[in-house]
Amino acid sequence: MINKSTIASLLFTLAIVVPGYAQDISKIKNQESLKKAYAGKFLIGTADDLTRISDLEAASIKQHYNIITPENCMKPQPMHPEEDTYNFETTDAMVDWCEKNGIAVWGHTLGWHSQSPAWFFQDNSPEAQAKAKEEAEKEDSDEQRPNRQGFGGFGGFGGNSGPQASKEVILERLKDHIMTVAGRYKGRIVGWDVFNESIADGGDGTTENLRNYSWYTAVGPEVLTYAFKWAHEAAPDAQLYYNDYNIEQGAVENTGKHASSLLLLKRLIDEGAPITGVGIQGHWHLDSNLEDVEKAIENYAALGLRVAITELDVTATGDNSGAFGVNQGDRTIPEENYQMQAEVYRKLFEIFKRHSDVIDRVTFWGLSDTRSWRRGQDALLFDGELNAKPAFHAIIEESKN
Ligand code: GLA
Repeated sequence: MINKSTIASLLFTLAIVVPGYAQDISKIKNQESLKKAYAGKFLIGTADDLTRISDLEAASIKQHYNIITPENCMKPQPMHPEEDTYNFETTDAMVDWCEKNGIAVWGHTLGWHSQSPAWFFQDNSPEAQAKAKEEAEKEDSDEQRPNRQGFGGFGGFGGNSGPQASKEVILERLKDHIMTVAGRYKGRIVGWDVFNESIADGGDGTTENLRNYSWYTAVGPEVLTYAFKWAHEAAPDAQLYYNDYNIEQGAVENTGKHASSLLLLKRLIDEGAPITGVGIQGHWHLDSNLEDVEKAIENYAALGLRVAITELDVTATGDNSGAFGVNQGDRTIPEENYQMQAEVYRKLFEIFKRHSDVIDRVTFWGLSDTRSWRRGQDALLFDGELNAKPAFHAIIEESKN
């Protein structure tokens, strides 16, 4: 029953909550806008699927970014888990929300070895399945059971340990995937990461050094060219990018992963792949080599390609380039590291500004230090409450220089 005291306590609660809420939102609105600071130079992006954002996060997105990359929902596994099953709901909702708010959407990613389901590669013929079953039963009865998985690791690799379909069948499946997904969002998604992370780590740069599993063995190096052509057919106006991490490494001396990326990109261009640009992911740290970053941008531009920084974050913890789970590693980050981080971000934006004629977009990989795959390493511009960190102020200052 609603009585006077219920109403009084409701009013009391509102009196406390509403000003707090308004204060939080005005905290965001009082931050200088990143997208305005770099307007006319390049777009500023963030990564999120927008499935569970708070009002504060929504305000931060509207304040700072003019393009969003879905962090997960468009990857092959979540979007196309089985040959006859597509999940479009999350992406549809995200694209609708972005359109209503005047924010562009970047598609990520059509082809990848990771977070890709095994069905793309499996031979489904009754004979092959029967043989696989027989082998599995035999293995189950073996004392020393081999690891049948064959693939493992972060996010699950796009591989298949059972009987493999023919190259033609695998390509047909990739084509269907690309035509369906890129076709569905034609005109609504401005560009695509067509292939992600094809180059293996640790090469000397004398070859393309493509990964020796997944698409690159099931089809061959030409899989990328096919993918670019189909993406262009499905969405002729979309910008089409090759995206990878650490591909700036070795740029100054033209060795390592950078040299491999140049070989790969030149081949794609020679094979007539309709490629617009290269995405340098930008998962960096306090000691990242910024000369390599600048030289890589110059080298890609010299091939006639556009450049984007697609997944930017700079850890405040040291020289780790990868993910660290929450609570892993040393969680005490000295205060001075945030100043060092700010300086790295400032220098990066100094470089990006210098090359703004070829850079289309700088996208941060996450909304805040708690909405980040590198949670625990405080790699972004805002803390968990979306308060601006020194790195944010450094980037804003740099825009005025
Ligand atoms: C890679 C991928 C991203 C994401 C990150 C980790 O960089 O391109 O989609 O999975 O790893 O969040």
